[in-house]
Amino acid sequence: MTSLLSVRDLTVDYRATGLIMPRRPLRAVDRVSLTVSRGETLALVGESGSGKSTVARSILRLQPVTAGTVEFDGHPVLELDRRTLRGLRRRMQIVLQDPSSALNPRMRVGAAVAEGLEIHRLGVPSERPARVAQLLGEVGLDPALADAYPHQLSGGQRQRVVIARALAVGPELLVLDEPVSALDVSVQAQVLSLILELQQRRQLAYLLVAHDLAVVRQVAHRIAVMYLGRIVETGPTDAVLTAPAHPYTRMLIAAAPDPDHVEGRPGGSPLRAAAPDPDEGPPGGSPLPLGVSGEGAGATRPAKGCLFQPRCPHPGLDLRCASESPALRPLGATLAACHHADSTTS
Ligand SMILES: Nc1ncnc2c1ncn2[C@@H]1O[C@H](COP(=O)(O)OP(=O)(O)OP(=O)(O)O)[C@@H](O)[C@H]1O
Ligand code: SF4
Ligand SMILES: [Mg+2]
Repeated sequence: MTSLLSVRDLTVDYRATGLIMPRRPLRAVDRVSLTVSRGETLALVGESGSGKSTVARSILRLQPVTAGTVEFDGHPVLELDRRTLRGLRRRMQIVLQDPSSALNPRMRVGAAVAEGLEIHRLGVPSERPARVAQLLGEVGLDPALADAYPHQLSGGQRQRVVIARALAVGPELLVLDEPVSALDVSVQAQVLSLILELQQRRQLAYLLVAHDLAVVRQVAHRIAVMYLGRIVETGPTDAVLTAPAHPYTRMLIAAAPDPDHVEGRPGGSPLRAAAPDPDEGPPGGSPLPLGVSGEGAGATRPAKGCLFQPRCPHPGLDLRCASESPALRPLGATLAACHHADSTTS
């Protein structure tokens, strides 16, 4: 199956300015490659500061990229002129963590949802109120809320409005950057169910940035685990979460709280639909832990060798780890970047 989104060797440096001496740029994303097909969810997971949002923003060309390519439905996103990019942006929408900051507090809900239709000159103006009502209904909101202001809604309702606004322009890819993590735990499951329903109804492709493994387990077909800007492990969700090969993935899973002790979460079996390509689909799996937190932004970055080396608990850690950067290679049902992962014991 051809991928809708294909990212190759994406690299992003942030310029860092020191007070006295100029500092070296920070490599926030380092040669990241990934693909997402129609109807598929790829989750990007990793500690805070691992580069997940930078990948997400780069794909939509919301920030400068140092190197690499991004192809959307065959179009080279990073090379397009402004006009062509505007047309393509309609097909790729982003939903961020905090719905309040995504909505203008002085704009009524209906106007916020209709804005994209106006910008992209979609449909006839006289038909927009009916279209807005239909979109609000599709995200589970009463169409009468079109007259409300964002502050009159709950957090979950506001995120539904943000999703309706994204859907208004008929996207094929949604980049979801922590879409439920700012919501009350009891509301998270409802918004996740909506996200899944919409995927099935519209065959949407999702790039989901999440730090919560419970969310990922429920909705993602595949996972890419990031550490200090690199993908260190990737594969079908159940393979990565039940038989992780990389020591860092193992550490994330071990640090996650027990799902049975978190209220209101969509525990139990995954809610996601079967993967679009049966050959790449997730195998069956056992219950998995929830949640990931960490201090990736403060993690020590060695000058050479494996980036995970200062924190790696692997008994086989050796001089090669200190000198040679490991490339992704097949290990069991996943790809992992570790020189010694095949000899790792759980
Ligand atoms: N605009 C910026 N200027 C300079 N450095 C930045 C900028 N944005 C992000 N960074 C740095 O780039 C790295 C990756 O940040 P990014 O926000 O992509 O991580 P993340 O995985 O999304 O983290 P989180 O889970 O906290 O959202 C971090 O070290 C961060 O401090
Ligand atoms: S390459 Fe070495 S340091 Fe890196 S994760 Fe594997 S064992 Fe650990
Ligand atoms: Mg982020």
